[in-house]
Amino acid sequence: MSDKTHLVDHMTGHRRMRRNRKADWTRRMVRENILTVDDLIWPVFIVPGTNIIEPIPAMPGVSRMSVDRLVEAAKEAADLGVPAIATFPNIDLALRDETGSQVLKADNLINQATIAVKKAVPNIGLITDVALDPFTSHGHDGILRGDIIVNDETVDQVVEAAIIQADAGSDIISPSEMMDGRIGAIRRGLDAAGHQDVGIMSYATKFSSGFYGPYREAISTSGLLKGDKNSYYISPANGMEAMRDAALDVEEGADMLMVKPGLPYLDICWRLKDAFGLPTFAYQVSGEYTQIKAAAMNGWIDGDRVMMETLLCFKRAGCDGILTYFAIEAAKKLAKG
Ligand code: PBG
Repeated sequence: MSDKTHLVDHMTGHRRMRRNRKADWTRRMVRENILTVDDLIWPVFIVPGTNIIEPIPAMPGVSRMSVDRLVEAAKEAADLGVPAIATFPNIDLALRDETGSQVLKADNLINQATIAVKKAVPNIGLITDVALDPFTSHGHDGILRGDIIVNDETVDQVVEAAIIQADAGSDIISPSEMMDGRIGAIRRGLDAAGHQDVGIMSYATKFSSGFYGPYREAISTSGLLKGDKNSYYISPANGMEAMRDAALDVEEGADMLMVKPGLPYLDICWRLKDAFGLPTFAYQVSGEYTQIKAAAMNGWIDGDRVMMETLLCFKRAGCDGILTYFAIEAAKKLAKG
């Protein structure tokens, strides 16, 4: 220590933030948030057929898998301690129609996957979506009549789909189609069908976002989508509206809430957790994944470091977990310590 008096001594007095940062042990002592494998939910893409692993060009490192390969992947995820997977089907284009009628087939691709994974890997949770976009010929999440996505007719169909998914063994129904009144309707439908223990993770605040681009390639809807989803998703400009939308889902009986996309909407994560105290999840969506991968592949950022940093930031923002395409990579990294 020099005995010279510095100007900073008078300005900061005895408050020196760096005292707690001075060594690894102090930093560990004051650490507020930690990421564990329990925080990671893995979204996966399914294709018909057997023994297929089909890389998705816009999502380097992510592949569509046939059900048999998905079962193996789910085993690996369970062995790593990942609590749950969320399945998204890429069905034959020939099977898609105006109303997404495939969603109501007990043996459709998503239900086949549920049945197979539940049988082979009983210790991993299964989260399934009831939105119609993988099943419609126009790529919208609801039923299209003229140029309107009709709300109540879609909800009726979504409830039926939720019951069929629960019959197949889904643990948590996760409706992403943003129709009004869907959470209450699904809850009543599940209960009436004897599925009181099947939970609902609401895509409570789903924003109309450009970050979904690679996902639409993954389930082959990008070429199909007519127009945009602005009449049912929330505008990125609106935080208060998102809160009101989520409040309805809470009232209607959602067990868990989700914010989607993730990183650009951390304010919403924090506000939801603070307002409702329900388990709150963020979906780090395809475009968020891809921008990190792309920059890392170019050597412009340290991909692993940014992956772990973004996941930790969701925890700091109040999230109880993250749906992320990084789940397996991050789980392996956490296992190594
Ligand atoms: C639609 C749905 C979307 C995603 C999952 N389900 C958005 C959309 O296509 O409009 C996006 C997931 C991602 O980007 O990773 N129900």
